[in-house]
Amino acid sequence: MARSRATSRPSPVSLLLAALAVAVLVSADPEPVQDFCVAAISKGADDQPTFPGFPCKPESTVVSDDFFFAGLSRSGAAAAKDSPFGSAVTPGNVQAFPGLNTLGVSINRVDLAPGGVNPLHSHPRSAELVHVIAGEMLVGFISTAGKFYSKVVGEGESFIIPRGLVHFQYNAGGNSTARALTVFNSQLPGVVLAAPSLFGAEPEIPDAVLAKSFQVDGEIIKLLKSKFQN
Ligand code: GLV
Ligand code: MN
Repeated sequence: MARSRATSRPSPVSLLLAALAVAVLVSADPEPVQDFCVAAISKGADDQPTFPGFPCKPESTVVSDDFFFAGLSRSGAAAAKDSPFGSAVTPGNVQAFPGLNTLGVSINRVDLAPGGVNPLHSHPRSAELVHVIAGEMLVGFISTAGKFYSKVVGEGESFIIPRGLVHFQYNAGGNSTARALTVFNSQLPGVVLAAPSLFGAEPEIPDAVLAKSFQVDGEIIKLLKSKFQN
């Protein structure tokens, strides 16, 4: 039996629900409900946001400098050279740059020493656009199907890491340093570092759980823990 036009036309409510679903899919953070909401942050990185972000400082006290951030102009090359991974990540999230509050974007700087790696990690709340500005990086991620996608990315080129997937950047440029800006569709993407979260968790994950999970001897787990426990 043919359906009447009236029953096949989507109702305003279902259109609204579809529009909301699209909005949720394209934006990792909630939509802002005002022009801006400069975060009233007192303790910097120790402050934790509540939904949908930090409280706003009064608009009468907002100044142009609240929308300015110079943190990424400072080189991380020396810190990268000193780090065991040969990498330094300078965060430009809402905790460092309060003007980002409720705007759903943030940016980091990644410096890699020769041979350095920004080690395997994931961002539970954001996709990441890697834009290389100096040198060459092997950038890769692993999908939920277990497929490894990677590319050597050169100066001026970009690679996208889908939200939540484990990824890394490795300096593929021989003896040169490498530098990238990484851009997020979240003001606070969050980060789970694979090795430190498993082997340096507090309190400790029992050796037996890790040994069985990785199908190795407990001695190997003890060795790995010795590298990541403080
Ligand atoms: C790079 O992967 C970053 O998280 O900044
Ligand atoms: Mn990342």
